[in-house]
Amino acid sequence: MLKDKRIILGVSGGIAVYKAVELLRLLTKAGAEVHVIMTRAAQEFVTPLTFQTLSGNPVHTELFNLIAEREISHISLADRSDLFMIVPATANIVGKIAAGIADDMLTTTVMATKSPVLIAPAMNVNMFTNPIYRENEERLIRFGYRFVAPVTGTLACGWEGQGKLAPPEVIFEAALETLTLKDLAGRTIMVTAGPTREEIDPVRYISNHSSGKMGYALARAATRRGARVILISGPTNLAVPDGVELLRVESACEMQAAVMAHVEGCQAVIKAAAVADYRPIDRKSEKIKKKDETATIELIKNPDILAGLGAMKSPPFLVGFAAETGMVREYAEKKLTEKNLDMIVANDVSQIDAGFNVDTNRALLLFKNGSSVECGLMSKDKLADKILDYIVTGLAPC
Ligand code: CTP
Repeated sequence: MLKDKRIILGVSGGIAVYKAVELLRLLTKAGAEVHVIMTRAAQEFVTPLTFQTLSGNPVHTELFNLIAEREISHISLADRSDLFMIVPATANIVGKIAAGIADDMLTTTVMATKSPVLIAPAMNVNMFTNPIYRENEERLIRFGYRFVAPVTGTLACGWEGQGKLAPPEVIFEAALETLTLKDLAGRTIMVTAGPTREEIDPVRYISNHSSGKMGYALARAATRRGARVILISGPTNLAVPDGVELLRVESACEMQAAVMAHVEGCQAVIKAAAVADYRPIDRKSEKIKKKDETATIELIKNPDILAGLGAMKSPPFLVGFAAETGMVREYAEKKLTEKNLDMIVANDVSQIDAGFNVDTNRALLLFKNGSSVECGLMSKDKLADKILDYIVTGLAPC
């Protein structure tokens, strides 16, 4: 996701330095080339060797190091970066940058950069709320610097309050967001995700193994790319991506009502939800008691939400999913045609790395014009971006 991106990770002193190590791991895992700059205070907490080993690049610590300057100067480091991050950022470093002080490798390089700067502060709550710090942060925001707010909790100093470094995953997401082209700006995209639950009685229901991971990955990626995202989700345990408009539903009928109430104004609908095809014909208001050796529940067909969208007079760009356990292409082609879709994402859910509840997928994309693309094993996040690439291509110009 960050392939070919060059990131400078500036690390200033504070107990949260160890979390910058975790962030570095996330950045390099996503394919970024990371160059670390550490202040003197940061080196008191974690040695440069840790960052050097994980980044695969020498760590910059001294401004006037002739050997390092000959290999890659602080100016060329600043020039060649796509993103400059400071994690954790102390009140001191924020104050110095806001005041235009450049007296070490980190402050000098950040002043020389033209790339976006993302700062994740961590400090004592009283420092964080100090009007001097607040003014420094606001000043930098006015100049276009971006901040990832610290979270509230027990601080290393023993105080309770806001000042804990944001989790590395949150900072990583902010980095991705900063580096992502906003090719879905001005678009509204609806994503349905997760399973539906069809109640039998007050304590039981019919459902399926869908975790919602693919739908949530799509919602997160579309938001990052600038779309307004309406996420209609069945029950899941997943964290709601920042910035999406979430509507929680339980049953297929509730999902249908939510979809139809919000479809107007959407340029694309991605139906990643695993909708239950049937529901009990008669939901009992009392718990069904155990009686005979066998029991039968009579079911009735649920409305096909996607087919309903496909039958609209002028449907939005429609993307369906086909979770199959065999004859994947044949069944998916049938769904593509019968539901009048622009595109369908088919996968064989009997494979352990491409089914429900895993972080990877192996999909076959089929298009209305008869073309198809095989996507080998990849993370659901990566597949989400691939699907969105095709949606961007398929949408009429704004
Ligand atoms: N779908 C829907 N409403 C339903 C059933 C399915 O909107 N009642 C959507 C799903 O969200 C998915 C696509 O239709 O995008 C295909 O779903 P799937 O369950 O694979 O196919 P079905 O049409 O239900 O057919 P079958 O279960 O027989 O494979």
